[in-house]
Formats: sequence, C-alpha cells, structure tokens
Amino acid sequence: YDYDLLVVGSANADLVIGVERRPAAGETVLGSDLAVHPGGKGANQAVAAARLGARTALLARVGDDAHGRLLLDSLRAAGADPAGVLAGGAPTGVALITVDPSGDNSIVVSPGANGRLTPDDVRAAAPLIGSARVVSAQLEIPLESVVEAVRHLAPGSRFVLNPSPPRPLPQELLDACDPLIVNEHEAKVILGEDGAGDAPEDWARALLARGPRSVVVTLGGEGALVASAQGVSRVPSVRVDAVDTTGAGDAFTAALAWRLGAGASLPEAAAYAARVGAAAVTRRGAQESYPTAAEVDALGPAVARGGSR
Ligand code: RIB
Ligand code: NA
Repeated sequence: YDYDLLVVGSANADLVIGVERRPAAGETVLGSDLAVHPGGKGANQAVAAARLGARTALLARVGDDAHGRLLLDSLRAAGADPAGVLAGGAPTGVALITVDPSGDNSIVVSPGANGRLTPDDVRAAAPLIGSARVVSAQLEIPLESVVEAVRHLAPGSRFVLNPSPPRPLPQELLDACDPLIVNEHEAKVILGEDGAGDAPEDWARALLARGPRSVVVTLGGEGALVASAQGVSRVPSVRVDAVDTTGAGDAFTAALAWRLGAGASLPEAAAYAARVGAAAVTRRGAQESYPTAAEVDALGPAVARGGSR
C-alpha cells in the first residue's frame, strides 16, 4: 500500500465566532473577532492522521479560491498528500461555527465544491483508492460518491465511515463499514425512530445488526463504546479542560482508522483515538489543534467512566 490512510471527504474554511450564548430565532448577539481556520471533516481527518505520522492522502474538491489554497497549505504543512484534491466547479465549502464558553459548537455547512465531488471524480481516482490500506469517509460530500469509493477498495483493505451529518444509509455502504463510527445523534438518525433503545450499548448492538463488521459509539467526554463479533466494551476517556471541541471527532476517527490499519485491535485503536481526540479539544480550531504522536504520549493516563478524577 502507498498510503496508510486515504480520506474521501470534504474540505471547508471554518469561519468561527466565539459567543456567550447562541442567538434564538430573530435575535442578534455580539461575538468575538472572526477566526478563519482550515476545516471540513475530510480534510480534518487527513491532517490529523498525517500529524500523527501516517502516510495520508485526501480525495476532495475545493474551489479555485483563497479558501481552497488555505486548505491545500494546511494539508501540505501536516505532510498529507494533496494530489487527490480537485479544484473548481464551485466555491470552497464554508462552515459557519459558533463556539460557546464550554467549548461546544454549532455548525452550519455550505458544501460548495464538496457537493461537486461526483461519483465520476471518485471513479477517476480509483488507483488512489486502491493504493490505501484504510479508506475513511464522512457525509459532507454526495452519498453516491461515498458509495462509489467503497467499490474501489484494495483487497485486504478496510473502510471506516463517520456518517456525519447523518442520514439513512444504503445497505451497500453499511456492509462495507469496519467500523461505522457514530455519536449518539448519528446513531439515532441511522437507526430511525423504533430502532434505538435507551443505552449506548443498545445502539451499538442494533447498528451492528444492520450490517457493519464493527461499530464505535463515541460518548464525548465519557469515552467510547466498541462493538464487534467479539462483544461490546467501553473505552475510557482522558480528562482534559475543553477549549474547543470542533473537529475532535474527526481526529478520533482518523487516529482510529490509522491504528486499525497498523494492526491494533478495535479496543486498542479506540483507546488511542480517545487520547488524540482529548488532545484536540485543548486547543482552538480543528486542524491546528491536532496533536503529534509525541503530544499524545505526553497526555495523562486514561480515566475510566465514574473513576477517580
Ligand atoms: O467536524 C468538524 C468540522 O465540521 C468543521 O471543521 C467544519 O468544517 C464542519 O465540516
Ligand atoms: Na480543537
């Protein structure tokens, strides 16, 4: 394999304003100065993996504009291969993000060029897809393009999906996931009204029954749950002071995908990924907040849920 990880996904300019609280409908609030950060769930994953040391490439589409150049610069700076990033067709995707004092965010994405990453584009990149040990995707590009990607996986490779923003998934895509990585909200959308029980363990089992070889349910500061034919287990989180959670889930997914490709078990890979995600929330922005492997190693020990703090 030429790449440890190929990410098929979005690239956005993140326009971020800090707020005391979010406006209600019809209300105006004043916020901080505007910050413009490289983001997008796909580019975030690629930068996160490359910073950790993975040989990484991104298949994406940006506009022929300043935001697109910001994203290409960020990929190059992290050591990710941008050769699969197509340009043109629409302006680069933009995410309007508010971050509140607890570090939580709300995001509205205008897909722009991401929406023009077509199945034909993906088919044309078949050699790139076929040269990766692990391929990961999210849902800020057309669903048909993600489905096309799984048709070109190399033998023995694996596919990881974070279905965000969530929607019902076709069977072909569900069957390809190993793992499917969801938070609570995404789990509920994919399972639909009557599919979900009350506990994360229930969602994990129900999702597993839909076709994926494995499932990861992320629980924010409470760590994660992993589920496969080997059973369901909890993965502890690392306690940190959250400054900005934007993109932490993307760093988690990228780290998990990379470690799985390197031969780690699902619980091992998820435990490492939880540490990467924790490091990412301690700094502002998405890509700029991602840790190197040395920074992950320097984090404190994991804390089991309900354990001593
Ligand atoms: O997951 C975080 C990302 O979601 C942000 O970088 C933003 O671009 C949106 O895509
Ligand atoms: Na961050």
